[in-house]
Amino acid sequence: MKDTILTLLDGHPWQMLVQYYPTIDSTNNRAKELAFQGAPHGTVLIADQQTGGRGRLGRSFQSPSGVGIYLSVILRPQCHAQELMHLTCAAGVAMCEAVEQAAAFRPRIKWTNDLVFEGRKLGGILTELKIGSEGLVEYAVIGIGINCLQKPEDFPAELQEIAGSLAMFSPCAVDRAQVAAQMVNALYKISRMCKQDIMTLYRKDCMTVGTDVSLVRGSEVRHGHAEEIDDDGGLLVRFPDGHLETVSSGEVSVRGMYGYV
Ligand code: BTN
Repeated sequence: MKDTILTLLDGHPWQMLVQYYPTIDSTNNRAKELAFQGAPHGTVLIADQQTGGRGRLGRSFQSPSGVGIYLSVILRPQCHAQELMHLTCAAGVAMCEAVEQAAAFRPRIKWTNDLVFEGRKLGGILTELKIGSEGLVEYAVIGIGINCLQKPEDFPAELQEIAGSLAMFSPCAVDRAQVAAQMVNALYKISRMCKQDIMTLYRKDCMTVGTDVSLVRGSEVRHGHAEEIDDDGGLLVRFPDGHLETVSSGEVSVRGMYGYV
């Protein structure tokens, strides 16, 4: 079980901090419990399947056995919450990097953090923070889900037009353990980079800037043009009346004007 989900190279700084679960409700839920109990920076949780996988904005994340990566990392960055808006961006770049290394193609990021390729969502990120006294971050949990081996017909009917997997696009055979190992390598590398460098990489990988977008907040839908990403990962959107607004990922979901991307 251990060898089939994640094989880190000997000597990796986080190697001794990996926990494997054949099945779990959500690696993010468990990571938050462990972080509360004092688990160290770099603790990695990985599951073969999740029974209650969670996505952004209260959505669920389909997490069947044998085909995907469901992974959470506990970080203890020792800074204020405002300084951490770029953390999800860092995880997005790490996902692109890991997929390129393990599956030989580089997907892109639909702001904020959907991993996409050829109009399909391959994975996503759910970042959760615990803020302590005086706004200091006690811990951050970065949860990553990637569809690796699914065939188009494996997705539920409502996702068949918009979901994809690495195996659907990779020119080589996809090894789930390799993708997971590259994911942890990339997260480790990027967790040590400065904000400016992370945001430079993020802007290259993000495909949303320069496109027309629909901003969905509950039942409200507004249309605009995505112009820029600021240093905190906010999306600057120009509306038809000319005004510019910065939207943050906690509030809205962004859609392309003509479909998912
Ligand atoms: C999204 O696309 O909205 C984010 C999906 C995040 C899914 C991952 S799978 C591992 C971790 N555990 C969860 O319950 N969610 C995240």
